[in-house]
Amino acid sequence: MAAEDSIILDSAEATQLYGKAWADTCRAGDVIALYGVLGSGKTQLVKGLAEGLGFDGDVTSPTFTIIHEYIGGRLPLYHLDLYRLESVEDALRAGMDDYIPSDGVTVIEWPDRVLPLLPANTRHFTIEVASLNERLIRPGVSASA
Ligand SMILES: Nc1ncnc2c1ncn2[C@@H]1O[C@H](COP(=O)(O)OP(=O)(O)OP(=O)(O)O)[C@@H](O)[C@H]1O
Ligand SMILES: [Mg+2]
Repeated sequence: MAAEDSIILDSAEATQLYGKAWADTCRAGDVIALYGVLGSGKTQLVKGLAEGLGFDGDVTSPTFTIIHEYIGGRLPLYHLDLYRLESVEDALRAGMDDYIPSDGVTVIEWPDRVLPLLPANTRHFTIEVASLNERLIRPGVSASA
C-alpha cells in the first residue's frame, strides 16, 4: 500500500527528472540519503541531479567504487554507494566522514550503513519498486533502515 505522500515515477527518465529538480535547491554541504533495494532507481536519481547541476559526464555505479566525484557543475557532486560497507567503522576507515557533509552536494546510496554520521538536515527519500517500470518515491527514511 503506497503511502499518501508517494509519487509515481513511471520510467527511468521520469526518475531522472525528479532528481534533476533537486538541483536548483541544492547548496554546498547538503546531504541526500536514498533508500531502496538493488535496482530501485537510486542511481537514476543521482544521474538526474548531476545533470541538473550542470555536470555533463557519465554517472554510473561500478560495483567496487564507493565514491564517485562529479566535478564541473554548479557544485561538486559526491555520489557515495555504500552497499559494500558493513558498518560505521568501515565507513570511517574508508574516509567517508570527509564527504558527510562535503564542500558540495553528497548523495548516499545505502545510507543505513552510516545513519549515525548523517547531519540532522539530511534529506531522506525512499524508493519502492511498484512494477517493472514503475517506482514510488516519498520523502523519509525507509522503514527497514
Ligand atoms: N521508473 C523507473 N525509475 C528508475 N529506474 C527504472 C524505472 N523503470 C525501470 N528502471 C530501471 O531500473 C534500473 C534502476 O537502476 P539503478 O542503478 O538506478 O538502481 P539503484 O537503486 O541505484 O541500484 P543499486 O542499489 O544496485 O545501485 C535501471 O535499469 C532503470 O532503467
Ligand atoms: Mg545505484
